[in-house]
Amino acid sequence: MDIFFEIHKDLPREGPGDNRSTQKALALMQNLPYHPQILDIGCGPGLQTLELARRTAGKIVAVDTHQPFLDTLQQRAQAAGLSERISLENASMFALTYQPNSFDALWSEGAIYIIGFEKGLREWRPLLKPGGYVAVTEISWLKPNPPQEVLSYWMADYPDMQSIDANLSRLRAAGYREIDHFTLPTSSWWDDYYTPIQARLPMLRQRYQGDAEAKEILNATEKEIAMYQKYSEWYCYVFYVMQVE
Ligand SMILES: C[S@@+](CC[C@H](N)C(=O)[O-])C[C@H]1O[C@@H](n2cnc3c(N)ncnc32)[C@H](O)[C@@H]1O
Repeated sequence: MDIFFEIHKDLPREGPGDNRSTQKALALMQNLPYHPQILDIGCGPGLQTLELARRTAGKIVAVDTHQPFLDTLQQRAQAAGLSERISLENASMFALTYQPNSFDALWSEGAIYIIGFEKGLREWRPLLKPGGYVAVTEISWLKPNPPQEVLSYWMADYPDMQSIDANLSRLRAAGYREIDHFTLPTSSWWDDYYTPIQARLPMLRQRYQGDAEAKEILNATEKEIAMYQKYSEWYCYVFYVMQVE
């Protein structure tokens, strides 16, 4: 696993995303209280956590299971003067122990796939106050009948990847009404995520020369980026913003 964490260590973000998209999703939550309580699930190094703290007067609880990401977020929050309104918890999204009705909004960028889109929405729902909101990003097919190469790639890597319509049905089935959804721009894949990963791959190939397992992981990383380069019109991260029914 060393190589995996070396690929991902100290990246600005741990998945596609950008502050403008975070702001746009937040602006869709029109009836948030002035001091909202927000739970950011799978926060990673937390650029979206910081943006939520900047753009609201509320408190953000940021949850992740990888302590180095939480440490990075803590440093970033301190540097930004936001640490009083961000609390960090090393906890799993599979076993969140907060009281029911605790949060005005649940946030999760690039992480709900870990528990599963519909399962996460269902299991986290009791944590919301009445009328509470959820914003999640989920990788989604943008149009039907993708080319076999990209279909096979994602079916092997993430078989539960669905179309936007299917995800809208799933969020309704989980007890929410859709407020809106929008795709992340291409730049949000490159600027803070794929470009810095690509930049470190040659150095890591050098360092792990002769290590077959590392080579496999480096090849898989390159393949994921190549897939996006070739097929970005077919899939994207989509922000889904919803309100509990
Ligand atoms: C793709 S990253 C997204 C991170 C961050 N939201 C971002 O956009 O930069 C997924 C995150 O989920 C975290 N994670 C993995 N398993 C988890 C779990 N069971 N509970 C909470 N977080 C988890 C990872 O450590 C990682 O930070």
